[in-house]
Amino acid sequence: MSHPVAEERPAVHGDALNAVRAALAEAPEPEAAAQRVVEQLRDRFHHYDWVGVYWVDGTDLVLGPWTGPEATEHTRIPIGTGICGAAAASGTTEIVADVDADPRYLACFASTRSEIVVPIFERGEVIGEIDIDGTDPDAFDETDARFLEEVAALIAPLRPRA
Ligand code: SME
Repeated sequence: MSHPVAEERPAVHGDALNAVRAALAEAPEPEAAAQRVVEQLRDRFHHYDWVGVYWVDGTDLVLGPWTGPEATEHTRIPIGTGICGAAAASGTTEIVADVDADPRYLACFASTRSEIVVPIFERGEVIGEIDIDGTDPDAFDETDARFLEEVAALIAPLRPRA
């Protein structure tokens, strides 16, 4: 029996994607739209404790909009460093169930137990990523990955232009 992807998508994800589309349509400029998107994600999903977008700038990732209980000191991360840098280098979504067991992990918050990083592409190139920290161990699964990959595709046009 075949199950079209659209039928498998949880309603909460469909609703959130609509909210992202609304933020893109209504926000006055790209930075405000991106800020609204990270806030929508954190508000709608309780396991998304800290939500940020990094944009590629040369050989680094630079922190763009974020929302969460605390600011991170990692506002610029070389591509290849940390879980963020690994996802940007490979162009592959990273799901880390236990950050303490991953030697690549760059610690931002004492409360973080797990993390998901989803690359954002433009014409096949990684131009940024969505980074989400969870205070629960093993907070993220493939359902989050597929959903956030859809969000990533929607927000790619929000990349700041030099
Ligand atoms: N933990 C990330 C760094 C970014 S903070 O989580 C916001 C990493 O290992 O790359």
